Amino acid sequence: MCGIIGYCGPRAASDVLLDGLKRLEYRGYDSAGISVGHNSSLKVFKKEGKIRVLRDAVPEGVDGQWGIGHTRWATHGGVNDINAHPHLDCTGKIAICHNGIIENYIALKEKLIDEGHAFKSDTDSEVIAHLVETFYEGDLEAAVKSTVSLLKGTYGILVMHSDHQDLIIGARNGSPMVLGLGDGEMFIASDVSAMIAHTKQVVYFEDGEVVRLDRHAYSVTDMRNRPVDKKVDSISWELEEMEKGDYPFYMLKEIHEQVVSIPRAMSGRIDEDQATAVLGGLNMSEMELLGVKRVMIIAAGTSYYAGRVVAYLLESLARIPAVTELASEVRYRNPIVEEGTLYFALSQSGETLDTLMAIRELQRKGGRVLGICNVVGSTIARESNGGVYIHSGPEIAVASTKAFTSQMTALYLFVLKMARMRHMAWPEGKKFIEGLQSVPEKISRIFEQEDHIKTLAKKYHEAESFLFLGRGLNYPVALEGALKLKEVAYIHAEGYSAAEIKHGPIALINEETPSLFIVPDDHLRDKVLSNMKEIKARKGPVIALCVEGDKDATDIADDVMYVPKSEEIFHPFLSVVPLQLFAYHCALELGRDVDQPRNLAKSVTVE
Ligand code: F6R
Repeated sequence: MCGIIGYCGPRAASDVLLDGLKRLEYRGYDSAGISVGHNSSLKVFKKEGKIRVLRDAVPEGVDGQWGIGHTRWATHGGVNDINAHPHLDCTGKIAICHNGIIENYIALKEKLIDEGHAFKSDTDSEVIAHLVETFYEGDLEAAVKSTVSLLKGTYGILVMHSDHQDLIIGARNGSPMVLGLGDGEMFIASDVSAMIAHTKQVVYFEDGEVVRLDRHAYSVTDMRNRPVDKKVDSISWELEEMEKGDYPFYMLKEIHEQVVSIPRAMSGRIDEDQATAVLGGLNMSEMELLGVKRVMIIAAGTSYYAGRVVAYLLESLARIPAVTELASEVRYRNPIVEEGTLYFALSQSGETLDTLMAIRELQRKGGRVLGICNVVGSTIARESNGGVYIHSGPEIAVASTKAFTSQMTALYLFVLKMARMRHMAWPEGKKFIEGLQSVPEKISRIFEQEDHIKTLAKKYHEAESFLFLGRGLNYPVALEGALKLKEVAYIHAEGYSAAEIKHGPIALINEETPSLFIVPDDHLRDKVLSNMKEIKARKGPVIALCVEGDKDATDIADDVMYVPKSEEIFHPFLSVVPLQLFAYHCALELGRDVDQPRNLAKSVTVE
């Protein structure tokens, strides 16, 4: 969602803030702003649009050695310069940036207006500036603590005051915040990408903590003013991994990276001799794993679809009942937590609020939740009872791609481990490992078809609506393919079970509505071919995504994309890649902003 950054140090704060905001832009990009302090006054620049618009509005060499900045994903109040952060109090001395939602802002605002405060924006966030003003009696940290004690909702807040040179106060509840320790300078931001160019030494904060920082030192206290000891962590990502390199877009780079990100998710986690997986991070003994009777996977968006693939497999291979549920639904339906159920939370960012809140609810009820995250040190990773990092490297395109296959990889290893502990014999375990290890090479062969996929995108990008259809393990992949097309090309797309279309969606079929079928190479193939014929009989254009050499599917379809032959259980890894490429190329044809699609943001830290 919104990205926030603060800086205290010897350099020109505006340059550091603008560079940091550029790296945070993937979190939200409808407007942005900075406030820098100089000679007991604040200079504030705010602009609707991308960071480059803000950059043009900030004069070259503007003075100021400390400051805060924000890139916005609007929740309350339209997208314009005034609603952009930072927001000021009535005196113009206090500036705040806020990531999250203040749920009780209406009551607070009414009270503040009654007391004589003048509001400029329509945001929920502006109340924070006026509350700090109300409480301020010379101690900024105390004023921030009094302020946050009144807030309901989620926040990551940065506050500065023109009379307190070189001081920033940060507070968090439900929104991420991390401090970067430089040499004679300090950074604070909503994620490490904003500071990785300057430091790799970081401190993560927990909810209820308040940090006070200047260029030389920081201190952390809780709401009752008790000091909190913090551990310094190191960021494992390299700056180069955050660059686009020779690719025109991050999305394309990340799709191609799957040939290396999948092996990274497997690295050090396979025991070839025993034909099983080694997942120490689960923090569970073999006895405890043997006691697992059910698995529930919770996640959102693309991560949810990855979870759905794995739930199929857990049942079929490990014979453990498994379901995948939307985190946002789990949290509010008063879930029943029973002994013997193991929970997984899947999240690329590790910050998705719906998922985080569901984890907390499950843990409150005694559930053991394991996190499958990409971002090391993220809130979900820290709050889970154990877990596995997928080590995909930074995923910067808003549309998730490589995280999907890496999440599946990590959980396929869990399936292997559970299956081997139950009834999967050594040779089958061996075959499973070989199959998984062969996936990256097969994906690299799919890239040879990229020109062909581009041609199909040219042919079909004007369609107003699409159906993506699959069955079994490929049903969630169809859902993911539809999500990708919606997100980056803004084409309406429905993902469905190929079997389900006759129960309703077939009414949508006409000559202008293409159906993309994922044709498996398994016991469901003939059924899917019949479903394709049902669409053809109604003059619907059909694209088949089938295994190389599938003559029947090729004959029925108008157009075809191929994936290399594999064991059926690995088909989802392969079938998702052409769908990612298809969505990407349709988006390019339509001139979309591929990496930062409209209305979206990476890391959804509001409910
Ligand atoms: C889709 C996409 C979103 C995320 C979802 C969950 O391309 O990016 O649907 O998958 O917001 O995010 P994480 O995995 O970070 O919890």
